Amino acid sequence: MKTVTFTAPVNIAVVKYWGKRDDKLILPLNSSLSATLDQDVMCAKTTVACSKEFKESSLWLNGKREDINSTRIQNVIKTIKKLALEKNPSNEIISWNVEIRSCNNFPTAAGLASSAAGFACLVSALANLYEIEGDLSEIARQGSGSACRSVLGGWVAWDKGTNSKDSIARQIADENHWPDMRVLIIVVNAGHKSTTSTGGMARSVETSRLLELRAKEIVPDMMRKMEKAILQKNFDEFAELTMRDSNQLHAICLDTYPPISYMNDTSRFIQYVVHSINDFHQTNKVAYTFDAGPNACLYLLEENAQLVTSLLCKSFQIGAEVFRGNEIPKLNENIDS
Ligand code: PMV
Repeated sequence: MKTVTFTAPVNIAVVKYWGKRDDKLILPLNSSLSATLDQDVMCAKTTVACSKEFKESSLWLNGKREDINSTRIQNVIKTIKKLALEKNPSNEIISWNVEIRSCNNFPTAAGLASSAAGFACLVSALANLYEIEGDLSEIARQGSGSACRSVLGGWVAWDKGTNSKDSIARQIADENHWPDMRVLIIVVNAGHKSTTSTGGMARSVETSRLLELRAKEIVPDMMRKMEKAILQKNFDEFAELTMRDSNQLHAICLDTYPPISYMNDTSRFIQYVVHSINDFHQTNKVAYTFDAGPNACLYLLEENAQLVTSLLCKSFQIGAEVFRGNEIPKLNENIDS
């Protein structure tokens, strides 16, 4: 029996991937860019074991048995085993059954990049089990598109590329580049999202003209500007681009037919509070971004963390008063007191 355990972090996109041009290879319609979070914050932990004694292969996710024959899991396992065979045809463990046990230390399938961390982790663990070296982002991508960005740390671009070999992740700056950058995750709803990102993307590709425009006309320019803002550590610009890109993703979801709503009233309240804080200070102190779910990811600098968290808490207290039907205090008059 051979066993390995790996952890892999989530990544939060600031230029979102939405839409596939090839469903099988998972080639995206547009390039995307994200930050990979620290391992110890939100991560997947996967143990892969293989043994001659195992009667069958099995997959366990957060303690519950899942279907190991799902296309994506099989794509990943087959690709890695093929590479392992090419490297060492006499490696007998390749023919043994595998047991995969994975768990996340954060809500799964709630639009918090659990599949990115999960597949990046699975690919790293399998590659280690079968002693494969080299770039794993092409393989991780075939499990879940965004997973290809989680195999690298720091700020990572996924170039849409022209084929499977060059549609891979590229680190634009390492994890030490912007040390005072922080991400605040607000879990609005930890439940599973109603429309999966795969289902949502497929429907958008079929029905949204805006998506076509975004992929062709908007994202290439956005990628250039975002990369520059990150390299120059220009938070004000970075924040505006991040929020605009998130809003565009959700505009496309509404342009999809029938429409998809991932954000809920609480998400929109957070969006409103963020803009109120930024307007009040006449500069961007914080940026929101929402994936395929209602949960908010806020990017902010360490120096503003206390200000932003206390204003958010206060805003939620005010929001609760409003909900109870009490008189509405004006947000801007209250947020700094
Ligand atoms: O990797 P997937 O299929 O779960 O797609 C995720 C897409 C978004 O999270 C919405 C955006 C992104 O780029 O991470």
